[in-house]
Formats: sequence, structure tokens, C-alpha cells
Amino acid sequence: MKILIVGSGGREHALAWKIAASPRVSKVFVAPGNAGTAIEATNVPIAATDKAGLVRFAKEQSIDLVVVGPEAPLVAGLVDDLQAAGIAAFGPTAAAAELEGSKVFCKNLLHTANIPTAAYQTFRRAEDASRYIKELYPETDAPAPVVVKADGLASGKGVIVCETRREALDAIDRIASKREFGEAGNSLIIEERLIGQEASVLAITDGSTILTLPAAQDHKPAYDGDRGPNTGGMGAYSPTPLVDDAMMARIEADVLVPVVHAMKRARRPFRGVLYAGLMLTNAGPKVLEFNTRFGDPECQPLLMRWESDLVDVLEAVGRGRLDQVDAPTWSPQPSLCVVMASEGYPGDYETGRVITGLDRAAEVEGVKVFHAGTTLRDGQVVTDGGRVLGVTAMADTISGAKLRAYQAVKEIRWPGAWCRKDISDKALAWAR
Ligand code: AMP
Ligand code: GLY
Repeated sequence: MKILIVGSGGREHALAWKIAASPRVSKVFVAPGNAGTAIEATNVPIAATDKAGLVRFAKEQSIDLVVVGPEAPLVAGLVDDLQAAGIAAFGPTAAAAELEGSKVFCKNLLHTANIPTAAYQTFRRAEDASRYIKELYPETDAPAPVVVKADGLASGKGVIVCETRREALDAIDRIASKREFGEAGNSLIIEERLIGQEASVLAITDGSTILTLPAAQDHKPAYDGDRGPNTGGMGAYSPTPLVDDAMMARIEADVLVPVVHAMKRARRPFRGVLYAGLMLTNAGPKVLEFNTRFGDPECQPLLMRWESDLVDVLEAVGRGRLDQVDAPTWSPQPSLCVVMASEGYPGDYETGRVITGLDRAAEVEGVKVFHAGTTLRDGQVVTDGGRVLGVTAMADTISGAKLRAYQAVKEIRWPGAWCRKDISDKALAWAR
């Protein structure tokens, strides 16, 4: 088989690495890819958002399956265009990807289908949203435990968790008046702030059969101890002791099954990866958001533990025959990914810094360094994004995997490189 992977992040490097290992696959392309995907596959200089260019390339090369990594091309309808051209693709159609593309659509669907989620209100105008906050919290310095969210896609950054009324009003101003997230701020949501531990549960579905993957935990805030602004994700590990078998059964029954059903009923059958971002509250698991693709960085530890052939599953989804493939087998070893980022991320950052030590890092036992924001320049690997590398490790225990990952991190250098130092500590604290 010839497979084309669309995207250029750590997730796509992990996908390329895993897909290239399949005995059924003869050729893997990544568009546009990064310096890491170039090791596993052939990079093609077509942007992930260039739908016409991707369809043309897939036709020319007689690609058997296109695997779409990021949300933007899914929401823009890349899978629809590929299918219209007779090319098999893994990922939801634009109509189904709206579950991620519009938080308002997602919340309304959850509400209609009676799926547990935070109480919310939606607004189109900044004035209305501000008035709502002022009515809810009449005193100027009042605590205001709310979360303000831009409706559309904002690379994980359009969600502002607030403590006070002032912060909530400021968040509304940033999203709806200053338009920091552009058109994503055409509508906004104000929702109740939930308390609990977060977990990511990803499932692969063909719209009827649901294959739930082991639970993972992401680390969204930029700095140690979950402080600082939200990012795309600074590290992840899997499995997480936060989700035991009973909790997983509850998540499947209360969240995954009803969502797949509700999407079908809404005439938007969902095929691809359904990623539930959950808060495990005292009142049970509640949905924070849905993504319609593999999580980045959750994908890296998940695929490192996935032992059987990923391609069998991806292909079966495209044919609507997920019921006919064996469930994947998983390594019993936990896996953990530490994201190394550019100075300034999630704000502005510079690129083009030469990265050294990748060879030494790769020699650490049980470690695979997935590239995210990297590119090749004059034969050297240089930084090319905010999240630069996903240093991923497996070991017999989570703490063992953590040790290995950070040992590899220590070998890697570029000016301004940083990472969170506490990936997985929440799991260890929980298990204690
Ligand atoms: P989202 O992109 O909607 O998952 O939001 C990004 C992050 O913001 C989540 O991973 C949570 O850490 C936080 N968050 C979002 N919604 C809420 C909420 N209702 N209560 C508490 N934290 C939230
Ligand atoms: N790691 C969170 C995401 O992929 O959106």
C-alpha cells in the first residue's frame, strides 16, 4: 500500500513511524512533514491546507489511503474532496469535524444528547457576554470561576480559564473585541469551571463500531504545576491510573456511544478518531471538548505502545468495517512524552535555531524522539515551530519512562529550549 499522511507535527511523525513499520506498506509520503518524518518517509512540499494540491498528488501517486493528522484540513473538508475523487481517507468529513471546529456546535450536540458537560451560555456579541458576567458577578473583585472559549479553531489557545470577574471580562475582550483568535471569536462560550483531574480518551470509530484506546493524560498549561497559559499540550503519558476499567466503561457508555449515535442522527456520521477531553469530577466524567483527530502529543505515547498493525485499523474505518478487524494489542509498558518548546511559546517565538544532541538522545534505552516543529537547513536540523520535539520513552513503570525521557531531553540543546519538568507527576501523586 501507498499511504499519504497530511500534517507536520509530532503526531504526524509518530504516525509516519508506525505506518512505515507495517509490512503492508510499501511507501509513505508526508505532506509537508518535518525533519523527523523525512527519516521515516518521503516529505512532499504540499501544505496541509492545500486541498487541491493534496488531491492531485494522491491521484498522481495512486495513494491507497490518506491519513489526515491535523484539524484544520478536516474542518476545511479535505476528506470530502478526497472521497469525491475516489481516494480512501482516514478522518471525518467537514460536517462531522464540526464537532471540533465549532465549540458551539459541540456543546449544543452534547446538550441535546444529554451527555455530561459543563453548564454553558453562547454569545455572539462582546457586550452581551460582558453583561452576563456582570450580572452573574455584580461585585468588581468577585471570584468568577468560569471558562471563556472562542467558538472556532485556535490551536488549543482560544480557551481562557478565569479566576476573577476582571479576568473573565478581559477574556471576552481578547476573544470578541480584540479578535486575538480571528474568526474563531465570531461566537464565544462562557461555561462553568469544572474541578477535577483531566484525562484524554481517544476512540477510533467507523460510525458504528467503537474501538477505545487506552486513556492518556495531556498537560495543557505551559508551566510546571499546571500554571501559565494554555498550549497545544506540553507532554502526555498513557495509560493513566486516573481512568480504571470501571471509569472507562462509564466514559464509553455515557460519552462515546451517545456521541457516535448523536452524530449519526444529525446526519453527520463520524469516521476517524474521536477524542474526548474529559474532566473527572466528583459527579463523574464530563466532556470539556471533542477533537476529531489523534491528540498531539497523546498520539506519541499511544502509538509507541500500539503493537499490532495500525494500518489494518485505519483502512477498516475507511471501509466502514471496523467490526472485522482484531482489536489492537498494546505493550504493557507505560509510555510518556515530554514536549521541548521554543523560547516564547505559546506566544511569539523565533525559528531557525540549530538543534544538537539528537543522536545522543536517541541512544537512551526505550526512547524515540518525535519531531514536531523542525526542518532541515543545510543538512542541519533546526527549529521551525513552537512545539519542537516530543521526546517519548517506554519503561516498566511510568516513573521509569519519565526518567528515560528526561535523560534524553538533557542531551538535546538549542538556544532557548525548554520543557515542563513534571510530566506524569499527577499520575504518581494519584497512585500514591
Ligand atoms: P479545551 O480546548 O476546551 O479542552 O480547553 C483547554 C483546557 O482548558 C482544558 O484542557 C482544561 O484544562 C481547561 N478547561 C476547558 N474547559 C474547562 C472547564 N469547563 N472547567 C475547567 N477547565 C476547563
Ligand atoms: N493535546 C491536545 C490536542 O491535541 O488538542
